[in-house]
Amino acid sequence: MSNAIESVLTERRRFPPPAEFAAAAHLGTWEGLLELEEEARKNPEAFWAARASELWWDHRWHTVLQWQAPDARWFVGGTTNVCVNCVDRHAASWRRNKAALLWEGEPGDTRVLTYGQLHREVQKTANALLALGVSSGDFVAIYLPMVPEAAIAMLACARIGAPHTVVFGGFSAEALADRLRDSRAKLVITADGGWRRGAVVPLKDNVDKAIVDTEVRNVLVVRRTNSAVVWDPKRDHWWHETVDRAAPIHRAHAHDSEHPLFSLYTSGTTGKPKGILHTTGGYLTGAAYSSRLVFDLRDEDVFWCTADIGWVTGHSYVVYGPLANGATVLMYEGAPNQPGPDRFWDIIDRWRVSVFYTAPTAIRAFMRWGDEWPARHDLSSLRLLGSVGEPINPEAWMWYRSRIGGDRCPIVDTWWQTETGSIMISPLPGATPTKPGSATRALPGYDIDVVRKDGTSCAPNEGGFLAIRRPWPSMLRTIYGDHERFTKTYFGEIAGMYFAGDGARRDEDGYFWIMGRVDDVINVAGHRLSTMEIESALVSHPKVAEAAVVGRPDDLKGQAIVAFVTPRSGVSADEALATELRAHVATQIGALARPEEIRFADALPKTRSGKIMRRLLREVASGSTTRGDTTTLEDQGVLERLAQSFAHED
Ligand code: WT7
Repeated sequence: MSNAIESVLTERRRFPPPAEFAAAAHLGTWEGLLELEEEARKNPEAFWAARASELWWDHRWHTVLQWQAPDARWFVGGTTNVCVNCVDRHAASWRRNKAALLWEGEPGDTRVLTYGQLHREVQKTANALLALGVSSGDFVAIYLPMVPEAAIAMLACARIGAPHTVVFGGFSAEALADRLRDSRAKLVITADGGWRRGAVVPLKDNVDKAIVDTEVRNVLVVRRTNSAVVWDPKRDHWWHETVDRAAPIHRAHAHDSEHPLFSLYTSGTTGKPKGILHTTGGYLTGAAYSSRLVFDLRDEDVFWCTADIGWVTGHSYVVYGPLANGATVLMYEGAPNQPGPDRFWDIIDRWRVSVFYTAPTAIRAFMRWGDEWPARHDLSSLRLLGSVGEPINPEAWMWYRSRIGGDRCPIVDTWWQTETGSIMISPLPGATPTKPGSATRALPGYDIDVVRKDGTSCAPNEGGFLAIRRPWPSMLRTIYGDHERFTKTYFGEIAGMYFAGDGARRDEDGYFWIMGRVDDVINVAGHRLSTMEIESALVSHPKVAEAAVVGRPDDLKGQAIVAFVTPRSGVSADEALATELRAHVATQIGALARPEEIRFADALPKTRSGKIMRRLLREVASGSTTRGDTTTLEDQGVLERLAQSFAHED
């Protein structure tokens, strides 16, 4: 262990906000932060009304919050339009000719869209969608690579009140089909393909497979890779014909504050992904407020959040949050190591990126690739760094701070979830002293705690459940089509509060330390996956009798997927089968869910009541010796056979 890291770990070293940064920040003092917290605590509704007032509203709300647990309605009676807030009002200001989007494709092609140009594009797209029969309330699925049309499509949907459901381009046709059926989408926006590590991802082909047996009637296709695609002229429409031909003026109507804005599917504890539903006024208030405060956004910034728009981070911090603030956003299509391991540093250098937001798994990969790659580039434009998706280990934090931030940029480690809609726990870069590995404190306005099962607060450093005591504007409103599951999952665990599913503790300074999921959800390279979803994929294979999936600690990805599989009798458990099963999971869900390791066993350890003992499997998977009580094991021999089981690694 290096000396610097040792001192962080042993002295609990704190990093005060750099003086130069604090002097210019929106919120540049600790006292200022405490004041804002106090303001929010004293009168949360007045606090949120003030935040919402920074947006444009057609009609002001009559009631800030209606709360009947677990149902919240924010800014009741208010009407607004998310697209007008993110685009029109800037296009009508001095920002008209300011860059909204700086885009770079993986092959190196670039595009720049000013707010004025973005305004024209969203209006044409809105008109094209209306002409294709989309009306307010219809779901539109977006299955696109990271191209400007992805942001344009989202904004155009918001403009006409058609909620979007973005499906990550790395998901398979099967996973896309599930989401199309669940959301009952009428139209899909996709591309002929997307570039990833020099190869084409066949998005249109996947859509063709996925839309069988769905309500999809039209497919709007962006030409990106010039790949050959199968074309159904009654159903398929090229973006460059349909949108380019559409009228450039679209008068936006205001939508109710609680009108659905989007749903986004994420993994829960069961096999079926949940469509997390967000609405208009509250969501935008949370996204805009957090962007401004946490990233200290200013007009001269170039803000780069590396997340794909297929994840909530891409929704809130590539599109809605920064654009609501009139910021300049950088968007990059491809892989971080294409053509070389310094692609990101090269992008920061050439575009003069000032605020950079990425995931710990990426930072660990950069560390592994070596210091020489960032060292080749001028990173002096950076002034602030962010991290999201999983706990960041202190080693990675220190490397990020020194090698990327030149020991000059504060780091904001931001905790939040698809469900929370926007950042909930994070340092404020000009005000909060940071501790490597801690997301520090809740943002002003959020009442977050670590509690025991009975809802009482844990003592300092006592581990418990992360919970949110009061409703907040950007909270999910429901799981689309399954309100009962929403109530049970989030408000059925700890009486009277929102249960986040994370374990955590607070230290003597009240700082949060997130310890990871307490349910059957695993976090692989910042992607949330359900062990049951992967198990269902495995048992859908004809050669599999039973499967259990667990996560084991992984240096690079945070967690790696380990699958224990019992083949059907007569099937030989060999390398070929392992390869076949990994490919099967990739087709069922996507490459991101492919198990790192498959272990075959003739039986899985179960309790007498037939429950698979996951704790034991986790211990076997991580190679630790089994501790604790195993007396309820139905068949003691199973465990030994498992430990020696035939392992297949990537
Ligand atoms: C889960 C949410 C919304 C961000 C992208 C992931 C974990 C997220 C942190 C962090 C520790 C974190 C939690 C959370 N997580 N950020 N800064 N420190 N853990 O969104 O897919 O909805 O996953 O990611 O476990 O519950 P998501």
